[in-house]
Amino acid sequence: MTVKHIFVIGAGTMGNGIAQVAATSGYQVTCMDVQPAALEKARATVAKSTTKLLEKGMINMEQKASVDAIQFVPTMDTMKDADLVIEAATENPEVKLRLFRDMDVNAREGVILASNTSSISITKIAAATKRPDRVIGMHFMNPVPLMKLVEVIRGSGTSDETAKTVVDICKVMSKEPVEANDSPGFISNRILCPMINEAIFTLQEGVGAPEAIDQVMKLGMNHPMGPLELADLIGLDVVLFILEVLQRGLGEDKYRPAYLLRKMVDAGYLGRKTGKGFYQY
Ligand SMILES: NC(=O)c1ccc[n+]([C@@H]2O[C@H](COP(=O)([O-])OP(=O)(O)OC[C@H]3O[C@@H](n4cnc5c(N)ncnc54)[C@H](O)[C@@H]3O)[C@@H](O)[C@H]2O)c1
Repeated sequence: MTVKHIFVIGAGTMGNGIAQVAATSGYQVTCMDVQPAALEKARATVAKSTTKLLEKGMINMEQKASVDAIQFVPTMDTMKDADLVIEAATENPEVKLRLFRDMDVNAREGVILASNTSSISITKIAAATKRPDRVIGMHFMNPVPLMKLVEVIRGSGTSDETAKTVVDICKVMSKEPVEANDSPGFISNRILCPMINEAIFTLQEGVGAPEAIDQVMKLGMNHPMGPLELADLIGLDVVLFILEVLQRGLGEDKYRPAYLLRKMVDAGYLGRKTGKGFYQY
């Protein structure tokens, strides 16, 4: 199937980035969210981001016009016109399973339904639909316009044709697709989140201050960001959720979330999005 029109679900951090990149790559884009405020914020975010990219000569007028043409909508009514649906809604299994049941009803037969989930099983999401062969993980990285990687995750029923189509679309979006099989945390978060957790244990046990921990990993290990800074960027609630998925899914105590992480999430210190995490914003 030729993909011309992409329907993005969720207009938050990831959804608006995916909508922007899809539009600058020449796709017609519709972006849907249940929260009117999220739609307004997304519209402003992509306008600001693409104005900057245009000034820097990183996109042209035609690409800017394509972004300005993104339709921001509150329902799935126009999903029937889309050739690909990418879901980037809240990381909550109940929300995603309900969404995929609805997407299966609203999207045309044969249309691929992709999820940007960080940790929820693609096989399980696919089982909520009658087209498990057309369901796949398309895990973009934050911030979407800048990060090259898309982790492409096959559920147990994902067809080769679906994987190939999605890999080709990632390339059209100037991304580097890397394929992974469905397993808790996939490749990216299976490795990243235990490292962040260990940094939090290191802080909790008084081995070093947040700045010291981050400096060691930046200056000594060549990481562009320290693990605690990165946790604040991702959101501490998201990191905790992923660690719980790893611990439950893989059944190993080594994924046990640090007590300090749990305490900070309970206190509402979620990182950048709340103005306080391991650092103040
Ligand atoms: N934030 C990251 O660094 C990051 C990185 C990679 C992947 N992800 C994944 O991307 C997805 C989105 O994360 P985010 O950080 O953009 O979250 P976010 O909270 O910024 O945005 C989620 C949006 O989904 C909307 N939403 C909730 N239920 C909906 C529904 N039924 N229909 C339509 N919209 C709905 C919310 O209103 C919200 O605007 C999650 O699955 C997350 O795990 C996040």
